[in-house]
Amino acid sequence: MTRIGERKKVEELRKEIRRHEHLYYVATKPEISDFAFDQLMAKLRRLEETHPELVSSDSPTQRVGGTPLDSLRQVQHATPMLSLDNSYNEGDLEEWLGRVRRGLGREPAGLVAELKIDGVSLSLTYENGGLQRAVTRGNGEIGDDVTANARTIRSLPLALPDRPTAIEVRGEVYLPHEVFRELNRSRREEGEEPFANPRNAAAGSVRLLDPHECGRRRLAFFAYQVPRAEGLSFASHSETLERLAAWGFAVNPGWLRCSGLEEVRAFIGQWGERRARLGFDIDGVVVKVDNLEEQRALGATSKFPRWAVAYKYPPEGEKTRVRGIVVQVGRTGALTPVADLEPVSLAGSTVSRATLHNADEVARLDVRVGDVVWVAKGGDVIPKVVAVDPAGRAVDSEPFRMPERCPSCFTTVVREPGEVVARCPNRRCPAVRRQRLFHFVSRGGLDVEGLGRRFIDQLSQAGLLEDPASLWDLDAARLAELPQWGDTSAAKLVEQIAAARKRPLWRLLVALGIRHVGEKAAKVLAAKFGSLVALERASTEELEEAEGIGPTIAMSVAAFFTDEEAQALLCRLRKRGVDPHEVVQAPKTEGRPLLGLTFVLTGTLSRPRESVAGLLEEAGARVADNVSRRTSYVVAGEDAGSKLERARSLGVTVMDEHGLRTFLGERRIAW
Ligand code: IVH
Repeated sequence: MTRIGERKKVEELRKEIRRHEHLYYVATKPEISDFAFDQLMAKLRRLEETHPELVSSDSPTQRVGGTPLDSLRQVQHATPMLSLDNSYNEGDLEEWLGRVRRGLGREPAGLVAELKIDGVSLSLTYENGGLQRAVTRGNGEIGDDVTANARTIRSLPLALPDRPTAIEVRGEVYLPHEVFRELNRSRREEGEEPFANPRNAAAGSVRLLDPHECGRRRLAFFAYQVPRAEGLSFASHSETLERLAAWGFAVNPGWLRCSGLEEVRAFIGQWGERRARLGFDIDGVVVKVDNLEEQRALGATSKFPRWAVAYKYPPEGEKTRVRGIVVQVGRTGALTPVADLEPVSLAGSTVSRATLHNADEVARLDVRVGDVVWVAKGGDVIPKVVAVDPAGRAVDSEPFRMPERCPSCFTTVVREPGEVVARCPNRRCPAVRRQRLFHFVSRGGLDVEGLGRRFIDQLSQAGLLEDPASLWDLDAARLAELPQWGDTSAAKLVEQIAAARKRPLWRLLVALGIRHVGEKAAKVLAAKFGSLVALERASTEELEEAEGIGPTIAMSVAAFFTDEEAQALLCRLRKRGVDPHEVVQAPKTEGRPLLGLTFVLTGTLSRPRESVAGLLEEAGARVADNVSRRTSYVVAGEDAGSKLERARSLGVTVMDEHGLRTFLGERRIAW
């Protein structure tokens, strides 16, 4: 083929892939199976590998690339990214429209009502149709350059079809509910703090330093504004939204041109009812003057444009007052602000504490001591502060600031980029040590009965608990002398602690609090390696050979075993007989052609999923619930959803049912 011929073929293939990406991620109406899509991508990859000179930065193969950064570069916005003035009732909306009328000296030509997406705003710059730069809002004037991360967002085009010379697009990055649930599920499993809500997760994810990790977070984007477009002119906001959609952006679903407030009210009512079923968070409706000339005439205050207003839906939950805000230190050193509340009855229980999650959430809510707030139970039933009632604020109230030093040991706290939590880095911090001890003996850890927080504190204060190993030094006679202890209870506890020596290895691994190692990973590692010493000797590559163990867990385990303090603890534990060994069974291979392979089944197959899973397992495969980079194949039936998307973003091979049958046939496994 001639060079021109190859170029043409590559371009046509890209065009086709972009069309399918758009159908899948923006229009949500895919035309081809995921298997077929993966084959198109594989074909393009092969062509680009053979002709590297044809690779271009806007190719669909180039969404994830580059190495992790050390820090994010700060960039000044061409025009400030403002915020929106809030309204809470229809009277506020009337007042806003009154100000618009007075500003224009007449009725505005029209209004646009659209959903207020609860995410984080992002500014994108395209030059000659290619995405050049993505910058977070930051303080409105200066934001962080997150271009590599933005490129991983599939509902955002890398190239615009008519190649406009220079445009800026602004919009909202958000996390769909389904993705958020899955992300928090795996964070909990790895012993990481779950994100407070999808907005908080989106904010953390877009600022990650590793674009690969960001790609795995599966962020999404809605475009809502074009503040700059060289050589193009739009007459109205509605025209802009239409053009954004034509360029391939996902735009706010259901946006509506309204002639007056009557229609805006109907829009607010309709979406208020549909809100719970949307699949992503909205916190209100934005009402904008449609005509751009009128927008320019109205201008902006230093904070808000005068041509737009946000209507906020009333928060859920019950109202109460914040008596104080305390900052707790967790076992990983994470600082969590917690609101101390006037007791309030909420879904069948009395609540007097509610988490404020982290500094970002406190800043977003602007919760202050003395404020009247709404408290609701989240999906995980943990009470949360969801909003502040501005009417209940005292004039002399002061914003709450997260401490810059650990409240327990006064060490300066650190916050890594992309992390939503600030941590106390001091390993000797008394609060961290206390939480670690408690975790060590807790039900999820070594499960020592009869050792609650109160006793841990009592024993620590009495100087009897230095570290977890000193549990096995406790002497029944000495214990019995302590207040509230007697001979029987002391003897019983010592017996319980002695029995904990025999707990399975996985429990000890969880109890040690190795970052990213939750119950699931601990069980896998224990089964494969059988002892602490075998784990200590394993390289990261060997660790990664274990099912479900990726580089993050492997590196964390390796780091733990090379840490001096951890080594000292393990040595002290061994001396006290705490060193569980388990028999590692070599996997049986004969008659099991799929041994070592992991499948994830998703969507509807022609046979019940359990029966297909049984067939695969009989042939030696593992069938997992969730897709990870260790997954060998994802089998996608009809209407496959987020697992399929995850497989694609991780580059896991996807096959449809037909593909699976062929695969099994080739290995002489009967369907
Ligand atoms: S228009 C002032 N439209 O809400 C800048 N903003 O609370 C014009 N937001 O910073 C913004 N959905 O991040 C606009 N449909 C929408 C929006 C929206 C969410 C965010 C945006 C803004 C914040 C203000």
